[in-house]
Amino acid sequence: MRFHLNELKKALLEPTISEHNIVKNLSLVSKGFTSDRNKITEYVMSREMVSAYTLFYLPSNIPKLNFVFDMLSEEIIADIKSTRIVDLGTGPGTFAFALDEYFDGDVEVVGVDTSKLMIEQATKINSELYKNKKINFQKSIPADFDGETLLLGHSLNEMGLKPLLKIIGEYSPRNLIIIEPGTSDVFKEVVKLRTAMAELGYFCAYPCANINSKCPVATKIEEGTDDWCHQVLRMTHDSEFERLSQIVKLDRKVMPLIAHVYTKSVKHDNKKARMIRFLRESKFSFDWEVCFERDGELVSANFEVMKRGLSKKEVKEMQKLSVGIDVEYEVVKELSKDHIRVKLI
Ligand SMILES: C[S@@+](CC[C@H](N)C(=O)[O-])C[C@H]1O[C@@H](n2cnc3c(N)ncnc32)[C@H](O)[C@@H]1O
Repeated sequence: MRFHLNELKKALLEPTISEHNIVKNLSLVSKGFTSDRNKITEYVMSREMVSAYTLFYLPSNIPKLNFVFDMLSEEIIADIKSTRIVDLGTGPGTFAFALDEYFDGDVEVVGVDTSKLMIEQATKINSELYKNKKINFQKSIPADFDGETLLLGHSLNEMGLKPLLKIIGEYSPRNLIIIEPGTSDVFKEVVKLRTAMAELGYFCAYPCANINSKCPVATKIEEGTDDWCHQVLRMTHDSEFERLSQIVKLDRKVMPLIAHVYTKSVKHDNKKARMIRFLRESKFSFDWEVCFERDGELVSANFEVMKRGLSKKEVKEMQKLSVGIDVEYEVVKELSKDHIRVKLI
């Protein structure tokens, strides 16, 4: 984030909100997210709730966009940049501003939200902190939005899949980016989205190498395993944010998320393996669950990534890796069909 937390506080709808009320409102917001789905939209009802949401979730959600975009090819990034982007369910403008930061202001974004208060909050932050004249906030998708880029950040979860599919049918985005909470419930919806996108002729730019092949994790769920494919972003925040995070008792150093990117414009050809779970670290190896394409089918397998040949610094870096990255590898030994010893290249 380009500014300090105290500058963001000044740009809130309620800049004088007390610490006590921030804690109280965030506890209601996070309960709404995690337990009572019927109440999920209540946090957009009051100026204090919108302020508390903004102060905590805007700074911690912004880095998720960089994480996802760093996984995309240059062609896809260039294609996204060349289009107008609708950030649907923009809230306080979280991903609209994340895009501004990523593209250094050279990006046209329309932030759309049904909540009047969220639009007011996003507009205030834009005029006080970002000053990007190419970002507009409004209550509905522009009527001439056609074949461009649609992004949803933590809003598919609220909006539901059916309305999203209707919007896709109506506006035919050539890129669709979703960044959602990393929960098993969201994963089940995303599996359905993945199938629908394959049927509509999209390619997946992240995280699946081939969406015409069944998701191996979804297959495991059908077989009764309680599993879901998600990413985990590990990061450090500045001391001001860490303090807030401790006060509200919500850890944002380890953030599970489910990000998917679909595209019509550029064919994605992924020959790498996607790390989908960190299993364990032993003296000799890191054991990861990975997903990759074998004979045209997606499969998941355990990779034993050998430490031999790695420097101490490289081992430390590997301990800090986020889940969801892709890796190029060389097979050292196929111990079984789904247990492979590899070396990273
Ligand atoms: C959890 S917030 C996410 C805000 C922001 N994108 C972020 O990630 O921090 C979800 C937002 O989606 C909005 N929303 C829910 N359903 C919507 C719909 N059908 N159309 C537009 N916005 C919607 C809500 O008003 C809320 O501001």
